[in-house]
Amino acid sequence: MPEKLTLSVIKADVGGYVGHGDVHPRLMDKAREVLASSPLLVDAYVARAGDDINLIMTHRRGVDDPEIHGLAWNTFKACTEVAKELKLYGAGQDLLVDAFAGNVKGMGPGVCEMEFVERPSEPIIVFMADKTEPGAWNLPLFKMFADPFTNPGLVIDPSMHDGFSFEIHDLKETRKVFLSAPEELYDILMFVGAHHRFVIKHVFSRGLDGMVCASSTTQKLAHVAGRYVGKDDPSLIVRCQSGLPSVGEALEPFAFPHLVGGWMRGSHCGPLMPCSYDRCNPSRFDGPPRVVALGFQIANGKLVGPRDLFADVAFDRAREQANQIADYLRRLGPFEPHRLSLDEMEYTTMPQLMKRLAERFQPIEEVRPPAEALAAAVETD
Ligand code: F6R
Ligand code: MG
Ligand code: MG
Repeated sequence: MPEKLTLSVIKADVGGYVGHGDVHPRLMDKAREVLASSPLLVDAYVARAGDDINLIMTHRRGVDDPEIHGLAWNTFKACTEVAKELKLYGAGQDLLVDAFAGNVKGMGPGVCEMEFVERPSEPIIVFMADKTEPGAWNLPLFKMFADPFTNPGLVIDPSMHDGFSFEIHDLKETRKVFLSAPEELYDILMFVGAHHRFVIKHVFSRGLDGMVCASSTTQKLAHVAGRYVGKDDPSLIVRCQSGLPSVGEALEPFAFPHLVGGWMRGSHCGPLMPCSYDRCNPSRFDGPPRVVALGFQIANGKLVGPRDLFADVAFDRAREQANQIADYLRRLGPFEPHRLSLDEMEYTTMPQLMKRLAERFQPIEEVRPPAEALAAAVETD
């Protein structure tokens, strides 16, 4: 049996610079230093998106490995110490508990991992987003793996023609379902269109023996902590080429800056702007939400790269469009749909207001037309 490789991306916000827009270079250095000293890894690359640190790691220990998760936890702890020293904003905010208990899932950091036998050539993309939530990947993942107008390979590549299987998680009821495209397309859309609640966790190829193709972080910090502690700012791994979406087909959905939740105070929607790595520092109204894409070739477990895939000028129009959408939405101010619906907002004053104004609420007297008038109206219908 060929040796399997695990690719793990574990991410957390352990202190913003300045406010919630960036990671201080000293935290990046600390993360690199801790990972470099670990004998557990084949290779590692430390990246950031906005104020989130992403640890991109390859190893031979499989997914959910306590040692790898422990290494990520200790790395974030070490970065937190630096963040505290510099008094960075929200130092340690995503480390929700004091003690690590074997798996970072449910403890604050976001995790996406996959184990596979390295192909003769293994191109992968790590997408990292800031100021948004896991459901932000639903539309691009659907377009990449199920929409023939985005991905022509679904029509003309024999390995993709059988379609893909989607593992969809219901974050509210903590349960999952596997649905297959193309025959269950409409069922899939019914769920993933409701992206605050249903998220695509994995995608598997049906033409290539169930090969894992995509893995995303799906934790909702507010669900984990039971209160607002920061935005989830998800990451996503996508394998490309040779019977999977090409690099260009995987990037194409992001040419359309779709609306996602998570801008300002986790309580507003905004366009997801594809950015080059050095421009992924949200500041306008703490946003708008943005995404970077780093491409790697994996060679015997080593991460060759990255290539900054949204640096391409061909994404300039998407950025321009995102800015126009941002201008338009901002003019709505505190009105929905710019502001998220009451049950989706991460900040709210509603309970206090309801309590304070309870006495002033009065019943609305129901004024109904007389019964005979209603009956007459029904007859003439
Ligand atoms: C954080 C975020 C920010 C903050 C905002 C207020 O991911 O989206 O918009 O919510 O800067 O932060 P606090 O309440 O900490 O002052
Ligand atoms: Mg932050
Ligand atoms: Mg963030």
